[in-house]
Amino acid sequence: MTELRKSLGLWTAAGIGIGAIIGTGIFVLIGVAAGLAGPSVILSFLIAGFVALLTGLSAAELSSFITETGASYIYTVKAFGAFPGFVVGWMKSFDYIVGASAVSLGFAAYLAYFLGIPPATATLVAIGTVWPLLLMLLNLRGMQEASWTNNALVVLKVSALVLFIVVGGYYLIRGGDFSNYTPFFPEGIKGMLSGAAIIFFAFIGFNTVAMVAEEVKDPEKNVHRAILLSFGVCTLLYIGVAIVAVGLVDWQTLGLSKAPLELALGVATTNPLFLKFVAISALFATTSVIISSIIGGSRALFAMARQGVLPGVLSKVSSRGIPVWGVVISGVVISLIVLFTRANLTWLASIFNFGTLLTFFFINASLLQLRRTMPDADRRFSVPLYPATPILGLLSCVTLAFFLNINAIIAGVGWISVGVLAYLLNMRRKPT
Ligand code: ALA
Repeated sequence: MTELRKSLGLWTAAGIGIGAIIGTGIFVLIGVAAGLAGPSVILSFLIAGFVALLTGLSAAELSSFITETGASYIYTVKAFGAFPGFVVGWMKSFDYIVGASAVSLGFAAYLAYFLGIPPATATLVAIGTVWPLLLMLLNLRGMQEASWTNNALVVLKVSALVLFIVVGGYYLIRGGDFSNYTPFFPEGIKGMLSGAAIIFFAFIGFNTVAMVAEEVKDPEKNVHRAILLSFGVCTLLYIGVAIVAVGLVDWQTLGLSKAPLELALGVATTNPLFLKFVAISALFATTSVIISSIIGGSRALFAMARQGVLPGVLSKVSSRGIPVWGVVISGVVISLIVLFTRANLTWLASIFNFGTLLTFFFINASLLQLRRTMPDADRRFSVPLYPATPILGLLSCVTLAFFLNINAIIAGVGWISVGVLAYLLNMRRKPT
């Protein structure tokens, strides 16, 4: 069987998007970004959100007339052909896996902090290896089980961010002390832009909705709506959280904290229930990012296998409608990466950003190409201000690439080279 099952409506599809977006970025990296930018981290969020939105809009248009599973992979195949598509799909599936490894380490670090265990490398590696394997088993049970669990986690993490904004905002307004907002640019424009480059990570994930397009009911209608809905909800929450967080605590203290949101909320309230809820929500958030990454990674492998560029076994679907081998490979490789990189979170996050920028670049490029080659396709959503939007999206990816760590570029290009070699060998074996 190679048919995926349609089990997601608009809200569950948006849940997959929000599940993939809200994670380590807002719960942990907000501290790092505030430490670089100061209170102007609020603008860092706006800039990073705007850059992500440009590609989000392109992805929304593409998903409104290409409803096959595979997102950036399938768009690139349609726009530029099998080989460029393969490069994007190869990088994207790896990206989901590497991203989930980074987030598994984020989960491990937060769990250690939450339980008061010293964050020794061995502890982090042990937790970060086992947790994705358990979530892999959940994914194997079925899309319904995985998406319901994901939805429950989404409700919890969104509630935690709303609670943070309401309780913290009320405290700030009632107290009338806004001194933490000045000076607004303590590290200048450069600090603000460095904050934006880091916090861009927090917005990544909306495209997972398009990755599961065939499992969404009425995909022509629902996929692009779910992308825009998940993006909109997360952006509003992020801006609210950033405004309140830097208002409550001075930015330098925030920058040093391992649990910045809990620290900031501690200024506004001593209610232990509120504080623990926000703290534990970081665990819910990272867990749902791992669940959605396993979903996304396995569907990327599935889509490529179905096109014949990866072994056919990856396109086999179980009686529960799950591409079993893709899920198993994703889960196991996430764990192995955690094990072998020995908890090097920065390194993993940089490779993840490289893969994301590459796929974002091709999403915008595919839109520009397909507007020319498929002008009459039945688009249910069109990018506003075309062609300025995708061109800006494309340029912003190139600009952000300059902020990437050189080792991440080397690792990304190395991984692509391995894929290209495998692709060429595979083509030679195939009868023409
Ligand atoms: N946006 C995801 C996160 O912040 C990757 O964890």
